[in-house]
Amino acid sequence: MMSLLEQFVKTNDLPEKYKTMNQADLEKKAKQMIDELGSKVYIPGHHYQKDEVIQFAHDKGDSLQLAQISAKNTEAEYIIFCGVHFMAETADILTSEDQKVILPDMRAGCSMADMANLHQLERAWPILQETFGDTIIPMTYVNSTAEIKAFCGRHGGATVTSSNADKMMRWAFTQKKRILFLPDQHLGRNTGAKMGIPLKDMVVWNPIQNNYEGEASEETKVILWKGHCSVHEKFTLENINSWREKDPKIQILVHPECSYDVVEASDYAGSTQYIIKKIEEAEAGTHWAIGTEMNLVQRLKQDHPELTIHSLNTMMCACLTMNRIDLPHFTYALEKITEGDPQNIIKVPNNIAKEAKLALDRMLVQS
Ligand code: 13P
Ligand code: SF4
Repeated sequence: MMSLLEQFVKTNDLPEKYKTMNQADLEKKAKQMIDELGSKVYIPGHHYQKDEVIQFAHDKGDSLQLAQISAKNTEAEYIIFCGVHFMAETADILTSEDQKVILPDMRAGCSMADMANLHQLERAWPILQETFGDTIIPMTYVNSTAEIKAFCGRHGGATVTSSNADKMMRWAFTQKKRILFLPDQHLGRNTGAKMGIPLKDMVVWNPIQNNYEGEASEETKVILWKGHCSVHEKFTLENINSWREKDPKIQILVHPECSYDVVEASDYAGSTQYIIKKIEEAEAGTHWAIGTEMNLVQRLKQDHPELTIHSLNTMMCACLTMNRIDLPHFTYALEKITEGDPQNIIKVPNNIAKEAKLALDRMLVQS
């Protein structure tokens, strides 16, 4: 039997020809195979994907849209998911048994999703219950593993995305007095603050130390899991101040995975779809500094020459894991399907998928 390491190496092992083929040939090959496969294959792509890959997506979207589209697609036998691992897991959970979800490179994870594991959550839960009694509903950002979603599902909770977090938190408060918000403390805090919850009524839970950071009290409304996005944490208040100083006409537009200080000091905050819409509707000649992943900012810049667009942090790099999905891996995934030997299939075990679906469905009915 192959060891885990051997399996990992095998699933990510690109044949030599894919390492040397030029972009034009890869594009031609990919297009040919997509045409041949027809409705057998469906390609959803997240807005953070590279141009070389997103050009082939049948649909583009933010996390919520991609979850909704996956739930609706019943036709395609193969779904090549151009995004990261948790999104492919969600697609697998929401599609039928006979559909196969493929992630072109298994290394396309999410550093934030890795910041909450089931062991930590099961260790924390009894302590939280001891502090607050049976008053907590666990809610998780979709940027989390299927196991974390399943935990939320079996404890009456739901998933949220950056475009429906306030709606879902409002729903959660109709169920229980308090929310445990996983794994992104920033989205949790920003959403809580937007709903009018004072910062002092939100306490941070440190999953490594297995304790509270700050004081948990009767007033506590939200328990924030101490996770973050390593890309969005790099946008700072100094970046905003520096842009405002340089350009008094600048408008600051950020993703709510940025810290509370950054979101507070910005002009607008919202999901990737919200950011795109805001830029599409912007008046010609206006100036923008955008705090989100680089591929999207670059694309907006190219698509809107009538606007002046910068990255909020000019030293900013792209999301490295999103970028794992490149044209060679994408084309190889298509080739393996064509050969009848699909690789990198994302399959969430049935028992986990069933409970995770409860959490996802509670979100999807509200969206
Ligand atoms: P959206 O839901 O806004 O697309 O965000 C997903 C994500 O991973 C942002 O880092
Ligand atoms: Fe995860 Fe951040 Fe990358 Fe989004 S940008 S996929 S949250 S690491």
